Amino acid sequence: MKVQLAEKHGFCFGVQRAIDIAEQHPNAKTIGPLIHNPREINRLKENFSIEVIEDAEQVGTIDAEALIIRTHGITKESLQNLQGKNKKIIDATCPFVTKPQEICAKMSEENYQVVIFGDAEHPEVKGVKSYGEGVIIVKNADELKKYKLKRRVAIISQTTKNIEDFQKVVDALIKISTEVRVFNTICNATLENQEAAYDLSKKADIMIIIGGKNSSNTKQLWQICKTHCQESYLIESREEIESSWFQDKQLCGITAGASTPKWIIDETKNIIEKI
Ligand code: F3S
Repeated sequence: MKVQLAEKHGFCFGVQRAIDIAEQHPNAKTIGPLIHNPREINRLKENFSIEVIEDAEQVGTIDAEALIIRTHGITKESLQNLQGKNKKIIDATCPFVTKPQEICAKMSEENYQVVIFGDAEHPEVKGVKSYGEGVIIVKNADELKKYKLKRRVAIISQTTKNIEDFQKVVDALIKISTEVRVFNTICNATLENQEAAYDLSKKADIMIIIGGKNSSNTKQLWQICKTHCQESYLIESREEIESSWFQDKQLCGITAGASTPKWIIDETKNIIEKI
């Protein structure tokens, strides 16, 4: 059996930047997990004593040299709250996330109805939403029907969403509103990983998708792979691999989410090659 990595996979620019920032600030605390990969979070804890504060409310009582804001960003209110705590704040928010925050604030100020295409519970979306007034979040075009929209609408997307799905929401909006300003805030890194996964899954007999099970972009890679390759498995670590999966297979494709470090990809590839 041949084992092949997708042409583009794994760490994106924003995650690599956040990890570099964290490694330069040992003993710092992060507000929420820095990235959606529990094993990498653990490595930072063991090697750099970087710990996660789950609840921003705890910040005042915690002894930390510095606080790191994660790649997905936090809400405007949480940021203001932290700034009042007299601690050093290091912002590792990905610049591709800062951008939709700025657009949301600007469009809202200009009295546009801001619509975010994304998952309301995702920290990035919560953060972006907090920069505007009366912002609406929709998961699909159908959900637009629930709202009475202003005539002037600005739409932005969660960075990790799929462009075709975003386009469907935009198409529906154009039929409802007289003015629609579309900001394509989907991150290219995610798209590149998705396209490479798509290409590889078309020819592979089995696809292994490596990443955090709470990572939105990893789950999306899994969805893409499943449409072409029925045997697509999402795993977080090599322990989950079962040798029976690879019986009678000619080509095993591997891809990994944007928050999956190279060391996890390498160890997984090695074990599959041994099998
Ligand atoms: Fe940033 Fe895109 Fe990565 S938004 S964190 S570069 S997936």
